Amino acid sequence: MKKAWIAVAILSCAGLTLLGASPDPPSGKAVYTPSNELLRPDKYREWIYLSSGMDMSYGPMAMDHHMFTNVFVPRWAHQEFLKTGRWPQGSMFVVEERLASTGSINKSGQFQTELMGIGVEVKDEKRFPEHWAYFNFGNNKSATANPKAGCWQCHEDHAAVEHTFVQFYPTLKPIAQKYGTYRDR
Ligand code: HEC
Repeated sequence: MKKAWIAVAILSCAGLTLLGASPDPPSGKAVYTPSNELLRPDKYREWIYLSSGMDMSYGPMAMDHHMFTNVFVPRWAHQEFLKTGRWPQGSMFVVEERLASTGSINKSGQFQTELMGIGVEVKDEKRFPEHWAYFNFGNNKSATANPKAGCWQCHEDHAAVEHTFVQFYPTLKPIAQKYGTYRDR
């Protein structure tokens, strides 16, 4: 029996090597190309779900469609936050945008449908001069960080904990308040 398990272990290692190690482990650590482009974190749906926004809009433009946003963070970073109220270096966040729709048996209200794109945020003080970096993904497999004015500034000015909008994440807000890292914004 023991031998069989060892054989399985060796075979699975060999398999991983043949297939090439996945650049996107569900553990949720950011992976970069040699030119500092972030690889799309495809397995974010296996991370911790923080909350959803519905038709949240921060600009003057009116939207011509309804939309949901869903926010995810890797389990390891979430665990650190629960213990300290702060995000560890390397923390990564995904905001997923989905179209809202009506139909089937529902008579009122809206549910989520097509993926419109994802926004990604990474905290990494060694890699990025502004400490937090922002990326967009549609069909692209890798992305360069957006200019500061595009995303960074709003997160800097309005987010409740470091660069994250914990004011909208009901399970994290009391944690940050407990550790004194929460700013009312
Ligand atoms: C005008 C303000 C504003 C700008 C500009 C902005 N964001 Fe955000 N962002 C928010 C708000 C508010 C939330 C809260 C979650 C939501 O919308 O549901 C958020 C949430 C996020 C999250 C989830 C983690 C967190 O920080 O709370 C990510 C990832 C993110 N934004 C990425 C981006 C990217 C990438 C860009 C640039 C393309 C961007 N954001 C531009 C306001 C902004």
